Amino acid sequence: MQRLRGKVALVTGAARGIGAACARALASEGASVWVTDILDDLAAAVAREIGPSARHAHLDVRDETQWSSVIDRITSASGGLDVLLNNAGVTGFDPPDGPQDPEHASLDSWRQVHAVNSDGTFLGCKHAIRVMKPPTGRGGSIINVSSRSGLVGIAGAAAYASSKAAIRNHTKSVALYCAQQHYGIRCNSIHPGAILTPMWDAMLGDGPERAEAIAEIAEGVPLGRMGKPEDVAHLVVYLASDESGYMTGSELTLDGGILAGWEAQPQGRS
Ligand SMILES: NC(=O)c1ccc[n+]([C@@H]2O[C@H](COP(=O)([O-])OP(=O)(O)OC[C@H]3O[C@@H](n4cnc5c(N)ncnc54)[C@H](O)[C@@H]3O)[C@@H](O)[C@H]2O)c1
Repeated sequence: MQRLRGKVALVTGAARGIGAACARALASEGASVWVTDILDDLAAAVAREIGPSARHAHLDVRDETQWSSVIDRITSASGGLDVLLNNAGVTGFDPPDGPQDPEHASLDSWRQVHAVNSDGTFLGCKHAIRVMKPPTGRGGSIINVSSRSGLVGIAGAAAYASSKAAIRNHTKSVALYCAQQHYGIRCNSIHPGAILTPMWDAMLGDGPERAEAIAEIAEGVPLGRMGKPEDVAHLVVYLASDESGYMTGSELTLDGGILAGWEAQPQGRS
């Protein structure tokens, strides 16, 4: 049974990693999927690989004019929009971003990270509401990709953590606003942790130390492994589908148990 048959979905940052896995999963459940990114060649390849139910469009999430025209193009070509996955994101770890700790980060790099992660999510919600709301729209599901870093502080990634916390909170404002207006639009945030994607390349490198670094991270995860993009995609399909129809304003962690506990917990006596 296809759980998303007849739905139209837009995924940002879908050229690779979590976004690409989600685009594939949404399409495999019957959705028509718009694969968007600033990496056009990669995003077009993902759309081609999915097949006729996917199309590619260039979308820099920082740019409101692009949001406006991409969303208008989708509604006229696909007859509406039912699902928005605000997934595009940056850490600030790619050269020449510089240090990301609260003492040494530059104002410019702080703003660049927020421009993609939090401004991009704000713009996506704003333009999705415009076309999802009745009477012309048919309601919908907005899924915002925050992070475990949106729930805790990260000493070496202050802008990333702050921007992801903004996404978490804005999700709840969108959820409440849409409920008050009786728009039939739900909005939830997801909080993955330690998912092995190209985002980690700047931290893991590609030398012989890479496998060791991955093993070290896995040791700190209660389930004993890093997550896969497909782990996130399963949750996204659920939130996109009508199965989650009573869920809005929620935050869902998906981190192998990292946030479930505390390293310095007292050990029970046996
Ligand atoms: N990998 C993890 O461990 C992890 C954990 C928590 C949250 N996340 C979040 O998941 C999302 C996807 O991350 P990923 O791990 O797949 O990383 P990734 O780097 O593989 O993918 C991010 C995608 O976003 C795109 N992007 C960057 N700037 C953009 C812009 N201005 N406009 C449009 N697209 C842009 C990139 O081109 C890339 O394709 C991000 O929001 C990230 O913060 C990832």
